[in-house]
Amino acid sequence: MAARTLLKRLTEAHGVPGFEDEVREIFCGELGNAGKLATDRHGSVLCDAGGKGPRVLLAGHMDEVGFRVQSITAGGFLRLVPVGGWWTHVLLAQQMEIKTAAGRKIIGVVGSKPPHFLPESERTTVMALEKMFVDVGAGSREEAESWGIRPGDPVAPRTRFEPLARKGRYIAKAFDNRVGIAAAIEAGKFLAKTKRSNRLLLAGTVQEEVGLRGAQTLAAVAKPDVAILFEGTPADDTPGFESIVSQGVVGQGVQIRLHDPSAIMHRGLAQFAIDTAERGKIPHQVAVRTGGGTDAGRIQLAGEGVPCVVLGVPARYIHSHGSIIDVADFDAMVNLSVAMVKGLSAARVKKLVSYL
Ligand code: CO
Repeated sequence: MAARTLLKRLTEAHGVPGFEDEVREIFCGELGNAGKLATDRHGSVLCDAGGKGPRVLLAGHMDEVGFRVQSITAGGFLRLVPVGGWWTHVLLAQQMEIKTAAGRKIIGVVGSKPPHFLPESERTTVMALEKMFVDVGAGSREEAESWGIRPGDPVAPRTRFEPLARKGRYIAKAFDNRVGIAAAIEAGKFLAKTKRSNRLLLAGTVQEEVGLRGAQTLAAVAKPDVAILFEGTPADDTPGFESIVSQGVVGQGVQIRLHDPSAIMHRGLAQFAIDTAERGKIPHQVAVRTGGGTDAGRIQLAGEGVPCVVLGVPARYIHSHGSIIDVADFDAMVNLSVAMVKGLSAARVKKLVSYL
């Protein structure tokens, strides 16, 4: 039950890239007693849970795809600039939450010129973001400003975390990557008080969705010997995927990612993940991704190189207002990371990086 409460708090937090404060607050509140907290200079956060041996990092990114207010029209409508990858198909008529500098949350809806006024050719194409705006109900720029709204304010989707009819399935925004932060917290709390032969480091990075930025600076602080990255990864199990072999099926276990354009996962560490899942009978699925990227892309390049592997919870419709997961996949991700950390001794890590 605790995981559900944590997932609700995390997915309902407002945390677009560069504005991850609410997520970091939850991370620090949950892990403050598990170790010593520190940050890099962009706001990525690290909890050093101590222990002797190789430095083992469990990390996820705290940010979610969102927007910033680009400008306020004379009539009081907000133009947006995307922060992270959006498909404009998913935006019209969706509710947004603008967070002002004072912390006030203002609700709005994404509008456009309605189809009734559009020529046929425009009605059947994807509308560009430049033709959309957020309507917060203001009558003028001055009124919107009187509520504290300014250019640059972060804008996040507005969605409640809710259970679906099928047991274990939930809908929310930002499962990418609040499942990862929840996993770092859950696994971290457990492992902090468990006998280990390594130094445990738990982290939440900033600005992943705009190009893995926080991971690079976090790695300079954490100096990991090996890293396990947690992700909310896109599912490929819906209508339209019939012709491919699905590798991210909701409800079929934690996804062990071997490859994507940003990182060739360390072969030894990836195999250790698969072996550990098999030995522990932890439901899992293996993925070789043709697209996408994760914080592993940066962390692997820190120092002399850091073996990385990405564990994921398949989530349908990520980067939208309504994504769906099965919490059993989340539990499998936590269990696999715990089992892996227990096995990452000095001898095993040394063997992973011995090539001669
Ligand atoms: Co992500």
